[in-house]
Amino acid sequence: MTRDGASSRYAVIGNPVEHSLSPRIHAAFARATGEALHYGTVDAPKDGFAAAAERFFVDGGAGLNVTLPFKLDAWRWVDSHDDAAGEAEAVNTIVPQPGRAGRDGRPSMHGCNTDGVGLVRDLEANLGWRLAGARTLVLGAGGAVQGVLGPLKRAGVAELTIANRTRAKAERLAQRFGLAACDLTTVGGGWDVVVNGTSAGVSSAGAALAALIPSEAIVGSRCYDMVYALDGATPFCRWAAEQGAAETSDGLGMLVEQGAEAFFLWRGKRPDTAAVLGELGRS
Ligand code: ATR
Repeated sequence: MTRDGASSRYAVIGNPVEHSLSPRIHAAFARATGEALHYGTVDAPKDGFAAAAERFFVDGGAGLNVTLPFKLDAWRWVDSHDDAAGEAEAVNTIVPQPGRAGRDGRPSMHGCNTDGVGLVRDLEANLGWRLAGARTLVLGAGGAVQGVLGPLKRAGVAELTIANRTRAKAERLAQRFGLAACDLTTVGGGWDVVVNGTSAGVSSAGAALAALIPSEAIVGSRCYDMVYALDGATPFCRWAAEQGAAETSDGLGMLVEQGAEAFFLWRGKRPDTAAVLGELGRS
C-alpha cells in the first residue's frame, strides 16, 4: 500500500459525527509524526453502515475509525478481528488488508478495538491512577463497558465489579468476564477507582444516575467518565466532585489514546499523546 494520495485517506464513521474531535486529533498526530494523510468524517444513516463503509474503501480509503452507533455493525462487517475486538464484540478501528480477498471482491477488512487500551493508558500513563491492586467499580453494562472490561482486568485490578440499572445485564457481562455484579443502589463504598460507562452522563438522565448511586461509593475515590466535555466538567464528574471524589477526569484522554493506537495500527508510528492532549486543553 502506498502511503500517499488516495490511500492516505482516513475517517471516523458515525451518526452524528460532525462534532467529533477525531479529525483534529489525527491531524495533530500526522503533523507530529510527519505523516501525510487526510482524516475526515463519514456521516452514515443509522441503517447504512455497510454501504457507507464499502463506498469509503472502494473510493480508496485507507482506514476507518468507528463510533456510535456503529461499533457492533462494524464487528459484524469485518472479515477478521483482533483479540480485543473479539472480547468486546465491537470494532472501533478498521484496517484494510490489501492483497487479501474479502467479501464481494473487496480487500479483506481487519477489525480492531483500541478503546480498552486507550482507557487503561489514560488512567495509568496520563493520570497516574494505579490500577494494579485497585478496587475498581464500573458503572453501566452496555457496549462501551464491554470494550474495556478485559483490559481493566488484565491491568491487575484487585476487584472489578459491574453495577448497572438493569442488574441482569451486569450479571451477564460479569459471568462472561469472571467478575462481580450488583445494582447501582447497592455498590457500597471503599472503591479506589470508579469508571462511568453509562450513557446517562451525556443526557439529562445523569440526574437519574446520581439519584441511584449512594455517595459512599464516590467519597475518596478517583472517578472517571468515559465521555468528555470540552466546555467544563461532564455532569458525572461534577456530581462526583460534589460527593467528595478524590479526583475526577473525563474521557478526553481515552479518546486521544484510542486514536493513537489506531494511528499506530494504520501508520506504524506512535504519536506523542501528551502534546495533543495539551493542545486540546488538558495538561
Ligand atoms: P453504550 O453502547 O454507549 O454503552 P448502551 O449499550 O445503550 O450504550 O448502554 C447504555 C448504558 O447506560 C446501560 O448500562 C444503561 O443501563 P441499562 O442497561 O439499565 O439500560 C445505562 N443508562 C442509560 N441511561 C441511564 C440512566 N438514566 N440511569 C442509569 N443508567 C443508565
